[in-house]
Amino acid sequence: MKYRNLGPYKASAISYGNMPLSIEGRPDRATAIDVIHAALDAGVTHIDTAWAYYPSGEEPQYGEGLAAEALASWDGDRSEITIATKVGHYRNFTDGEPTWGVDDEPDHLKQNAHESARALGVDTIDLLYSHRPSPDVPYEKVIGALADLLDEGFARVVGISNANEEQIRLAHRILGDRLVAVQNQFSPGFRSSEPEIDVTGELGLAFVAWSPLGGYRKPLDEPKFAPFQQVADARGISRAQVILAWELAKAPHVIPIPGSHRSATILDSLKAADLDLTDEELALLG
Ligand SMILES: NC(=O)c1ccc[n+]([C@@H]2O[C@H](COP(=O)([O-])OP(=O)(O)OC[C@H]3O[C@@H](n4cnc5c(N)ncnc54)[C@H](OP(=O)(O)O)[C@@H]3O)[C@@H](O)[C@H]2O)c1
Repeated sequence: MKYRNLGPYKASAISYGNMPLSIEGRPDRATAIDVIHAALDAGVTHIDTAWAYYPSGEEPQYGEGLAAEALASWDGDRSEITIATKVGHYRNFTDGEPTWGVDDEPDHLKQNAHESARALGVDTIDLLYSHRPSPDVPYEKVIGALADLLDEGFARVVGISNANEEQIRLAHRILGDRLVAVQNQFSPGFRSSEPEIDVTGELGLAFVAWSPLGGYRKPLDEPKFAPFQQVADARGISRAQVILAWELAKAPHVIPIPGSHRSATILDSLKAADLDLTDEELALLG
């Protein structure tokens, strides 16, 4: 496994997001624990979760509890493993469909962070993100809540998620080097965050790519993935490996966090860390 800088931590170049193990369509808990153990056994050192990773209508924090349980029952060296979590989202229903609500009210963020620390079984969260800016709360107040949580020792370092360039610069001005990561969507089907890859590189932050394979909840925009399939077919490897290797090649501070419901898929994805695409292949992929 290769590693990348995530603030004070070394994150596996391909890390793991446990949302598919936690929300609607999740596998049973024992299977989910096996998937996380398979990822850890194969060299993953960073797991991403969130206060809001639970099925709509159920108790919050399923994903955090799952990550903590998987780590506690793993027989490897836990000292190198970090867990990131996020606060500010909650689950809801709209027209009977499961949805995501945003609550960035500073006191609620702080309360959720305290609950996250309890669910993770830690005094200090390794990496705590604001999950999503809200149109109802000035962003400096959200960042102020993160600063308070750092000052109180509830988080060692923090990140922000779903943030644009202006918000990234604002957060960096307020938090300085206590801000270590921006977690935004990025995949062949979602390239509009490329400017945020640039600004995080400029500021020395990690860019953590969410839904790096295009996500699993909506059909993919297949034409955008066709060149990746072409390279995969020519090499006789999975399209997922080609996509993740392309993301790693974008910049040394990019850390994709693919999700999976199965050990086989995350184990296949991890091979991307050792896959060097040629200049011709990268030119084709764009
Ligand atoms: N910050 C945010 O707002 C935000 C939002 C969304 C997600 N996230 C984070 O990003 C993580 C990843 O996103 P995601 O789970 O939505 O999408 P994703 O990683 O883009 O895609 C997951 C899907 O890819 C499939 N897959 C994974 N590896 C594969 C392989 N090697 N070959 C074939 N298929 C493969 C999985 O298949 P199987 O199901 O068959 O295993 C799963 O269906 C989440 O778990 C979460 O931690 C963050």
